[in-house]
Amino acid sequence: MAYSSTILLIFMLLVTGNMHVNGCYTSIISFGDSLADTGNLKQLSTKSDGDSLHFLFPPYGETFFHKPTGRFSNGRLIIDFIAESLGLPLIPPSLGSYVANNLTGLGQGVNYAVAGGTALEPSFLEARGVYHSRENASLGTQLGWFKESLASICSNVSDCKHLIGSSLILMGEIGGNDYNYALEYGKSIVEVKTYVPFVIDTIISAVNELIELGAKTLIIPGNLPIGCSAAYLTIFYGSNKVRYDDTTGCIIELNKFAEYHNELLQTQLNRIREVHPEVNIIYADYYNAAMQVFVSPYKYGFTNGALKACCGGGGPFNYNASVACADPLSTSCAQPHTYFNWDGLHLTEAAYRIIFKSLFKGSYTTPRFNSLCPTLKPEGIASSI
Ligand SMILES: *[C@@H]1O[C@H](CO)[C@@H](O)[C@H](O)[C@H]1NC(C)=O
Ligand SMILES: *[C@@H]1O[C@H](CO)[C@@H](O)[C@H](O)[C@H]1NC(C)=O
Ligand SMILES: *[C@@H]1O[C@H](CO)[C@@H](O)[C@H](O)[C@H]1NC(C)=O
Ligand SMILES: *[C@@H]1O[C@H](CO)[C@@H](O)[C@H](O)[C@H]1NC(C)=O
Repeated sequence: MAYSSTILLIFMLLVTGNMHVNGCYTSIISFGDSLADTGNLKQLSTKSDGDSLHFLFPPYGETFFHKPTGRFSNGRLIIDFIAESLGLPLIPPSLGSYVANNLTGLGQGVNYAVAGGTALEPSFLEARGVYHSRENASLGTQLGWFKESLASICSNVSDCKHLIGSSLILMGEIGGNDYNYALEYGKSIVEVKTYVPFVIDTIISAVNELIELGAKTLIIPGNLPIGCSAAYLTIFYGSNKVRYDDTTGCIIELNKFAEYHNELLQTQLNRIREVHPEVNIIYADYYNAAMQVFVSPYKYGFTNGALKACCGGGGPFNYNASVACADPLSTSCAQPHTYFNWDGLHLTEAAYRIIFKSLFKGSYTTPRFNSLCPTLKPEGIASSI
């Protein structure tokens, strides 16, 4: 009797252990901007958006999907690699798709990220004299869509909590555009630095709100080293206003700015960890995962360097704000996998793959992600049995 129940217990442990290994999370719920948008801006776009629709034309998507999907890259994004490695289908955009209102859909995941999206409401930048014509699906708007959909995807509060608790939630990257719009508008780095605490507060409020709704595992990425982006390198080109890092060629002040955002974010995440020890709060260090490539691009196969864009309107970094990638006057490289930068502001699939690997198979998350989800570390299967 005792013997057979022990056998049964071991059997059950093996079965549930395997279920855990194969299905760490039942779904992915994502919020953010163009680094994670898998098609929402495409759904929001109309013909009247004119030039800004360049991302809906080739060569966007050429490498993996062989057609534009609304992703700002030649192929997959970090969120796509996460979904693949968890054994989930690629996460569809919430807009224009049945999934937003469908339990089956959430069972696989739903993506609320919108390219151009900001952490703060548009009124914040407007009050500071910054106007932009981009889409303004702020984090608040994205959370609103999510909460609206809950009414139809779960039947009651405890049902919702269970659903959200078994999901992996990607909160960002978000906030990059709040800074981009102001800097592109000509605001000084010193002034834009004063926005950072507001951006961080907004992200932290969103995380807390999701925890209230039942979230148990959240990945919160920091900002990329924006001083290495072809767009900023072009904007500041030839100006003596900024200093460059000798090793990478990146703009020191802008990278320090991104580091400041990331430090504030991590400080606040530590506070949430103290209040909610039962929740997995995972900081994803996009900055340093990318920085290792900017320091030695050749080592990672980026034989055309990490600074120049593959696709763009020419100039020293193949970026021109008035000639976007896919515009008739733009040119695109023959071998995107040898470039880190795709279109000036966004990265190539090869770049996103390296960042993904560094985060989830390397050491660029805090805490280490593969200790929370064995699926991401195949050798973990053997050791957990
Ligand atoms: C829910 O998803 C299924 C397919 O998984 C689809 O057939 C059905 O129409 C969807 N329901 C709604 C209300 O969108
Ligand atoms: C921003 O959002 C408001 C409210 O949803 C909308 O009326 C406005 O048209 C949006 N602006 C842009 C540029 O999308
Ligand atoms: C909530 O929904 C779940 C699943 O749909 C059900 O099992 C549970 O009994 C419900 N709880 C209440 C209090 O209605
Ligand atoms: C950007 O492209 C426009 C249009 O072709 C051109 O007039 C302008 O000189 C370019 N700017 C730079 C910095 O190359």
